[in-house]
Amino acid sequence: MQFQLTSRAANSQRTNCLMLPVYSDGHLSAALKSADRATDGALTAAIEAGDLRGALGDTLLIRPAHDVPFECVLLVGCGKRESFDRDKLSKALRAGLAAWRKTRLKSAVCALTAEALRGADAYRRARIAVEIWHDLDYRFTAMKSGGGDDSPRAQERLSLLVRNSDTAKARRGLQHGDAIGAGMSLSRELGNLPANVCTPSYLAKQARDLGRGNKQLRIEVLDEAAMRKLGMGSLLSVTAGSDEPAKFVILNYRGTKSGAAPVVLVGKGITFDTGGISLKPPPQMDEMKYDMCGAATVLGVMRAATELQIRQNIIGLIPTCENMPGGSATKPGDIVTAMSGKTIEILNTDAEGRLILADALTYARRFKPAAVIDIATLTGACIVALGRHRSGLLGNDDALANALLKAGDDAGDPAWRLPIDEAYQRLLRSNFADLANIGGRDAGTITAACFLSRFTEDMAWAHLDIAGTAWKQGAAKGSTGRPVQLLVEYLLNRFS
Ligand code: BES
Ligand code: MN
Ligand code: ZN
Repeated sequence: MQFQLTSRAANSQRTNCLMLPVYSDGHLSAALKSADRATDGALTAAIEAGDLRGALGDTLLIRPAHDVPFECVLLVGCGKRESFDRDKLSKALRAGLAAWRKTRLKSAVCALTAEALRGADAYRRARIAVEIWHDLDYRFTAMKSGGGDDSPRAQERLSLLVRNSDTAKARRGLQHGDAIGAGMSLSRELGNLPANVCTPSYLAKQARDLGRGNKQLRIEVLDEAAMRKLGMGSLLSVTAGSDEPAKFVILNYRGTKSGAAPVVLVGKGITFDTGGISLKPPPQMDEMKYDMCGAATVLGVMRAATELQIRQNIIGLIPTCENMPGGSATKPGDIVTAMSGKTIEILNTDAEGRLILADALTYARRFKPAAVIDIATLTGACIVALGRHRSGLLGNDDALANALLKAGDDAGDPAWRLPIDEAYQRLLRSNFADLANIGGRDAGTITAACFLSRFTEDMAWAHLDIAGTAWKQGAAKGSTGRPVQLLVEYLLNRFS
């Protein structure tokens, strides 16, 4: 798909589909007035006749019987002008772009992005439009015979109408949206692939593919022998029951001078979580193929970062394995030694994410990071606490946490902070080892983060629990690509 900007008047747009906003209170946008004049009032006539009342998300496709440069007009309901805000713009864009996508019309000019509104400047409006297109256009076809039942789309070019003075801002928004959209699609694809395809080795290969031909991105993959040498006993205890070899993937992106302290992103890469010997109940266990969405996020962010050439040094770390029961699997009560030297009593083998993250966070130390952020589908308790709208955010550094919260709100990919007071740490006490891997029924998201905090001392660290936000259930079942938007926003903010 080709994305472009245009500042020409609507009536002179040579396009297959001219997309125009219609408000429910009778307000007429400049673009609509312009196209209306060119069609001798055909558009206002249709609106006055009640063909489209302007309710948010309603659409109407018209073929004007006039000699005009645009083949069709797509009217898109935007609700009341005074309450048209960023959220309504997103919904209207989604409706308009989806309606266009169902047609055979190749090109479109979208005038919705030209409308000034509170809370979204020209940069944001362009970025939102492009991100929404990517979201709408994503299809999972990799495992459908014959490439899926969806007929290929006709759309080739989307031009966003912006004011002349907004062009520079909108251009950045368009580029950022395109890179973030591509990063999210990569993340979604990896999430949606089944665990018999998307194995630890497959994730490692995806990382290698990202690095191929890119001088700024170096990839290294450690095998189990290398992990054993490093003393990653916590990570290795999780893979003990699996026949698939575990991998530890290191992505090293050089975006600025080598002396600059990097941001380290650590993504949980459990390609399937059965729970291990603490076996999960059968209902919805298939969804545990999504337990590598933290890893998919790291790859998606890296893809966007390389495309945008973000001027930061960024390290991605992906500890990845399966969590399986079996004759050599770790048993409840087993005690293992983590890379940091701490001993862990594994009271529940289903609390495995924190075990692989512990060693990855210890490994992160060697990069002397400016900040470490781990991303993990870590606890069902996070869905109980926050539902599926906001990701959980915890950490030991207020400045980092606040920057991530702001990035999430700005990017439309919000998080919410939970505390990790010292008082919660006692829940992890073990009679037999330095700490236990579970803290009991209460405050499950917090005690999981408390566990991680034992491996991030003296580093500025934040943890994103994406158990509720990484995928959707039900009819729309599928990966969301979150929180790629939040993290790219954070990385872009850090450097500007
Ligand atoms: N991957 C799961 C968390 C999860 C469960 C995410 C359901 C999304 C939906 C994680 O490994 C896990 O099993 N966590 C346990 C921790 C418990 C044993 C302390 C959980 O949440 O039940
Ligand atoms: Mn688990
Ligand atoms: Zn898990």
